[in-house]
Amino acid sequence: MTLAAFEMSRRHVLAATAAAPVRAGAAASPDAAKVSDSTPSERVSLTVNGKVYQSTIDPRTTLLDLLRDHLRLTGTKKGCDHGQCGACTVLSDGHRINSCLTLAVMQSGREITTIEGIGSAEKLHPLQQAFLDHDGYQCGYCTPGQICSTVGALDEVRRGVPSHVTTDITAPMKPTDVEMRERLSGNICRCGAYANIHKAIAQVVETQS
Ligand code: FES
Ligand code: FES
Repeated sequence: MTLAAFEMSRRHVLAATAAAPVRAGAAASPDAAKVSDSTPSERVSLTVNGKVYQSTIDPRTTLLDLLRDHLRLTGTKKGCDHGQCGACTVLSDGHRINSCLTLAVMQSGREITTIEGIGSAEKLHPLQQAFLDHDGYQCGYCTPGQICSTVGALDEVRRGVPSHVTTDITAPMKPTDVEMRERLSGNICRCGAYANIHKAIAQVVETQS
């Protein structure tokens, strides 16, 4: 087949499929329009960084998409969107979660903290300062998740929540390097800045102890 003939037949196929009803030989049902018009909606109310937000959203909206696309809080990053990279980590009632793995409606009534609520350019959180001091990033895309996750992980240690590497759950828990590496293992850095990230965390642990 020549190129011109191929282009012709490709155009015909596209035109035919664009105009085709859903099922060959059947007229488009009026119900089809009804279905597309009836996108579900749900009222959600949550507190983000101390401010109450109320939105009417598609109940299938993830917390991550609500934060970024509806509330314009773009500090929280979308990496894999599948719970595997940790870029979207936020705190929900103080506990760290992957915001891509939870629906916004499931968080209704909760207090969410994003990187915007942890520190600001004018008043950096000690972890943010430590990341600067130790060059704990390259592209910085994973950094908000790393910092939110570290805030949550340090709180877990304070509350005595064991991890997979805790050897003695009866002893007072400490944010040792081994503990923190394990607890931060769900936060992936594609730039491989791990050595400096851990130096930054160690600096904060040292100043807090
Ligand atoms: Fe949520 Fe990767 S974007 S874990
Ligand atoms: Fe680039 Fe971590 S600094 S992904």
